[in-house]
Order: sequence, then C-alpha cells, then structure tokens
Amino acid sequence: MATIQLGIIMNGVTGRMGTNQHLIRSIMAIRQQGGVQLSNGDVIMPDPILVGRQEHKLRALAETHGLERWSTNLDECLADPHNRIYFDSQTTVMRSESIKKAIAAGKHIYTEKPTAESLSDALELVKLAREAGVKNGVVQDKLFLPGLIKLKRLIDSGFFGRILSVRMEFGYWVFEGDWQPGQRPSWNYRKEDGGGIIVDMFAHWRYVLDNLFGSVKSVSCLGVTHIPDRIDEQGKRYDCTADDAAYATFLLEGDIVAQVNSSWAVRVDREDLLTIQVDGTEGSAVAGLRNCRSQHRVNTPKPVWNPDIPNPFAFREQWEQVPDNQLFDNGFKIQWELFLKHIVTDSPFPWDLLEGAKGTQLSELGLASWQERRWIDIPELTV
Ligand SMILES: NC(=O)c1ccc[n+]([C@@H]2O[C@H](COP(=O)([O-])OP(=O)(O)OC[C@H]3O[C@@H](n4cnc5c(N)ncnc54)[C@H](O)[C@@H]3O)[C@@H](O)[C@H]2O)c1
Repeated sequence: MATIQLGIIMNGVTGRMGTNQHLIRSIMAIRQQGGVQLSNGDVIMPDPILVGRQEHKLRALAETHGLERWSTNLDECLADPHNRIYFDSQTTVMRSESIKKAIAAGKHIYTEKPTAESLSDALELVKLAREAGVKNGVVQDKLFLPGLIKLKRLIDSGFFGRILSVRMEFGYWVFEGDWQPGQRPSWNYRKEDGGGIIVDMFAHWRYVLDNLFGSVKSVSCLGVTHIPDRIDEQGKRYDCTADDAAYATFLLEGDIVAQVNSSWAVRVDREDLLTIQVDGTEGSAVAGLRNCRSQHRVNTPKPVWNPDIPNPFAFREQWEQVPDNQLFDNGFKIQWELFLKHIVTDSPFPWDLLEGAKGTQLSELGLASWQERRWIDIPELTV
C-alpha cells in the first residue's frame, strides 16, 4: 500500500471559488479523509502549493489550513517536477495565458470554467494540451449536485417518457454594494474584466443540457444589463458594462425545448437558487440543488380555469420527493477525486478542455444571438 503524493499548483486560490470550493471543500477535505483510496489499496494524497499575487493573503491562507507550501512565483512552481497538476481558479481573463505556460511545462491541467475568454482561445488550449500529451479537466460541478443526480436517475429510468421541455430558473438578487456589500466580485459586472452572466452561466448550462437531456442545437438569447452601476470592493461606483440577466431558449437534440432564465437581478420565489422543471409525456419533475420532486402521469390533477372561485388545488402538495438513496458529497470534491484518479490510474474523465470549450462556444453564440436579434445554430466543435 503506497501513498502517492501529488503536487498541485493552485493558482487563484485566494478567490471565492479557489478558497471555499477547491481548497477547503475539496483538497483539504480529501487530505482530512486520508486521501483518495484506489482499488489496489494505494492512496493518492494531494499536496497543494497555494499560488497568487499577494504574499500576505497566501501566507494567511496557508497558515489557517496548516499548509507549508505557497508562492507568488508561478514560473518557479511550474519548474518543480513535484508539482504534476496545474489548477486555475483565477479570474477568467487571466486563465488561458497561465494554462498555456503550465501546458508548456508539461503539467496536467484542471481548471475552473470558462476555460478562456473566446472560443478560439479555448480551442487553442485543447490543441496545445493534446500536442503536449497532458491530461486535462474542467470543473462541471453542477452535474454532481444531489438534485441533478436525482433528475438524472429519473431520466435513466425512463420516468419521463418522451421529454418535451425543460424550464430552468437561475438567479438571486446580487446587492448593488451601496447600502449592503455585493455578494459577488465586481469584475462579474464588467465586460472588459471577463464579466457577464452569459459568459458565466452558459458555460454551466451547456454541460447540464448536453449531459442530461441531449446536445444543444441552437440558441436564441436576450441579454440585459438591468443594474447600470454598482459599488466595488473599494467603495467606488463603477459602470456595469456586462449583462446581468439573460433570457434564453435552446433547442436540444430530440426537439426538446429548454427555456433558461439567468439573472442576478431577481428576487427568489422558488425552492432554490436554481430550479429545473422537466415535462415529459409520462411524468414531470422539478429539481433544485439538493431535492427533486416528481409527478407521474397517473398522479396528475386536472385543473379547470375558473378565476371566479378560490383555487381548489394545492399544486405544490401534489408532487413526491425523490428519495436520497445514497450519501451525497460536495460536487467539486467528487470531481476532484475523479480527476486525481484519472491522473494516477488513467480512469475515464470525460469533462476535458474540449467539453469546456463547448461552454464558451454557447456563450459566444448566445451573445451573438442577442446582438443580431436572431436564432443561431450551434456547429459541432472540431479542433
Ligand atoms: N464552478 C462554479 O460554479 C463557479 C462559480 C463562480 C465562479 N466560477 C469561476 O471561477 C473563477 C474565479 O471566480 P471567483 O468568483 O472565485 O472570483 P474572485 O474574484 O473571488 O477570485 C479571483 C482570483 O483570481 C485572482 N486574480 C488574478 N489576477 C487577477 C486580476 N487581475 N484581477 C482580479 N483577480 C485576479 C484573485 O487574486 C483571486 O484569487 C472565474 O473564472 C469564474 O468564472 C466558477
């Protein structure tokens, strides 16, 4: 029984996602559980080095988590053969240059989405990684949410019959920063800094739709900047140059219609920050982040339109909870474990840079659809 120490460069780890989801919930949690167990009894132990621009932040983060390795010098980290994986959770605009350096240094790549700012950059990363023969993966965390796992279970069981439509509602109110601080970084609202809800969320919607329902064939999208200015982390007012809401319709393989609203300017009156309703000939379901409710054809009520009397139906009570039937771990951690196994044992890991590029393709075509006020088909991606 051997312990395989795997050096991981974690760049952008002082950010929101880097610290919470990737360092604390994934890498530290894996270390605390004693590593990733392999079937031959060996154990993979991730050995992170925290990388960023500000020494004091890195030192404090390392101390908090009892880690000794941190650095402000990416090149030095890349030159150290102990570090076999490069992970990137920097802001999107910084990503492709750093990933290119890491590929050139022969590191395996694991990265947050979107992988790059443009489709051509995203495809260049695919090409470079292939040429260098390095393994690669992109965070697709939503696939590992309990609610979506339950939804996938229903799909795989044939519960829905023929799936007709999908309705996704995503969003919440992001404070403007004047009388309460905003709960997202200000760069999210500046196009020039890689912001915008279309760039951010279509990267997720692509793999959610492709993996659960069928590949996305075309898009019609209307973007809006509802809140024209906000206050940044330094208390300074700035113009919002990026979209903060997108109202999109996608056509999927099998003629499934998916309507997807994404907004940082909506107040939540639903069960969760993301809800996905699926209607099929045999049944329907509504999934949130953790729960999923279903209603079979035989349990479907027969409402009749009559506003002259009080509504006699308690619609929400007519659905059944899909049971857990398993333990659910953090989605980011599950994907990290699969990636680490992929590096050591060559086990399958389908969520690679090409899959990531498809997300950027959908964002780009969504933005084009908005700009040109028309439906746009999604061509198959080739490298
Ligand atoms: N998978 C998900 O659900 C999910 C959710 C939110 C964000 N993200 C992605 O994760 C990445 C990071 O997002 P975040 O919300 O953690 O952002 P953040 O602003 O909190 O963190 C960004 C990190 O990048 C670093 N950085 C490097 N150069 C920078 C520069 N010039 N300006 C600003 N920061 C710089 C920061 O120091 C920080 O460590 C983004 O690419 C975003 O799209 C993914």
